[in-house]
Amino acid sequence: MCGIVGYIGNKNSKEILLEGLKELEYRGYDSAGIAVLQNGKFDNFKAVGKLINLEEKTKNFITDKFSVGIGHTRWATHGKPTELNAHPHVGESSYVVHNGIIENYATLKKELQEIGVNFLSQTDTEVIVHQFEKNLRELQNAFQAFEKTVSELQGAYAILLVTKDEPERIFFAKHGSPMLVGINEENEKYFASSDTPLIGHCKEVNYFEDGEYGYVTPQEIKIYGKDTKKRKTHFTKLSTNKLSSQKDGYRFFMEKEIYEQSTVIADTLLGRLGVDEVVFDELDTSLFNGINEIKLCACGTSYHAALCASYMFERYTKIKTSVEVASEFRYRSPIMTKDTLFVVISQSGETADTLETLKMAKEADLKTLVICNVDNSSMVRLADASILTRAGVEKGVASTKAFATQVSVFWMLSLYIAGLRSSMSKEDIAYQISLLREVPASVKVTDTTHERIKRLSKRYLHGHGFFFIGRDIFYPLALEGALKLKEISYLHAEGYPSGEMKHGPIALADPELFTIALLPQHLLYEKAKSNVEELSARDSTICAISALEFDKADDFIAINECRDYMLEFFEMMVVVQLLSLEISIRLGNDVDMPRNLAKSVTVE
Ligand code: AGP
Repeated sequence: MCGIVGYIGNKNSKEILLEGLKELEYRGYDSAGIAVLQNGKFDNFKAVGKLINLEEKTKNFITDKFSVGIGHTRWATHGKPTELNAHPHVGESSYVVHNGIIENYATLKKELQEIGVNFLSQTDTEVIVHQFEKNLRELQNAFQAFEKTVSELQGAYAILLVTKDEPERIFFAKHGSPMLVGINEENEKYFASSDTPLIGHCKEVNYFEDGEYGYVTPQEIKIYGKDTKKRKTHFTKLSTNKLSSQKDGYRFFMEKEIYEQSTVIADTLLGRLGVDEVVFDELDTSLFNGINEIKLCACGTSYHAALCASYMFERYTKIKTSVEVASEFRYRSPIMTKDTLFVVISQSGETADTLETLKMAKEADLKTLVICNVDNSSMVRLADASILTRAGVEKGVASTKAFATQVSVFWMLSLYIAGLRSSMSKEDIAYQISLLREVPASVKVTDTTHERIKRLSKRYLHGHGFFFIGRDIFYPLALEGALKLKEISYLHAEGYPSGEMKHGPIALADPELFTIALLPQHLLYEKAKSNVEELSARDSTICAISALEFDKADDFIAINECRDYMLEFFEMMVVVQLLSLEISIRLGNDVDMPRNLAKSVTVE
């Protein structure tokens, strides 16, 4: 989604803004711009496409004295990706950048046009700066004008506004879209939509809450709440090491993130595994009192992790479990009962559809839990309880380590609840924990496997489509494998339960239909094998992933013989991730920032 940066200080604000926007590139964008106010003069630059175009436009622009600056990368929601629609948007003496959607922009725009305001863009954002200047003319006070403007906006927003009337201030407002401010000993202030651009510049950050607005100067930060009362700042240490979010020599962040799944899952398990019990210090056991149903809600890859969880929850906790696609759940008038634990899953913690379902559950007075990778994200701050996946910054748009850690957390959580409810024996829990301890080793990428997949990928660059098929918990893994391939290769792929082939899909079987078959040795192997044989008999090209040789396969990717299907699950997960990576690289695609996609979908 859109990215926002802001800066007040004596340093080279142009460079700081551009570097900050580069750190936000992974969110996906189609245009960018900056506006800097120094010596009472504004300079504004915008460009369509990648940031290199904006750098070109600003190459002769010097910022070597005190200045106030804002910057933005735009992922088009209202209006095509053009320079006119790129942010910052200008009034007569002010500039604004915004992430989110102003839902009442049409009404505001009409009223402004009726008093003679001319609009340059098709965006919802532009109404903010014109509404501010209208209020400024009436109130003759910039803060009061900003406060009034914010009160008139409906929808989701993270806003930064600068004006000649207050040349040493940045005004901010946050509601429904993430934003934070960072400070350091040099009295500089840094704004951003997420913490990565602040790493290396700031020691402490303050994540704004919904409804908060105010302004910063070199000397102070003034925060107000929806009730217009002053709010205290709540600074937390900025812990992420910038180096850890670089590529470390891999070709793409996605590749790096596949390789680091081993260490990352070890972090996820850290401090949570006893001998025969799972420990979540962050949870109060009362969260599960009176719970007779678990409802999981998410989007995309997180939805696939939720599907995996449903198999484990019902198998281990004996609690009825259902899974919902958030964008469907929102508008379905769902029946929600108070004995349901509502669990949302989100890497970013900002996905609009998932966040709205969490709000629905809260309004229905359900107990809520979020499984998330970003502390202080909107969902983490809203839910009754949260479990962090500890996957670290995931910069590849196609999610990998986030999925791996989500499934790991759900596996632990199912055992944790089983312990609370005594739905499993201590011995069985101890066995599952012994398996969990082996997962970091299971997901370690070996050169042999990676080289095999790299060679094999040349055969899968065409065809009229892919089936990824699996049974039981391997069905959501098949869905995930298909999504990975779609996202970064742009080839058509579908995930199916293996048993569904004869109910229609097998009509597509021919040599140009590539079937990626997940054949775990320890779970329904014979059943899954016969489904694959149905496809092979009709000449579909089969790529089998298994610990056991399969003579009907045209291609075969071996995984290690494991002592349990859950370890086979994680080994096959790495294979399907690497397969999509290598096919995409051969096709010459931008693996980390695939077309049309954004890392965090913070609008509907
Ligand atoms: C996964 O590869 C995609 N990037 C996408 O499906 C993603 O999982 C989905 O948008 C949900 O994002 P979230 O986990 O941040 O809520």
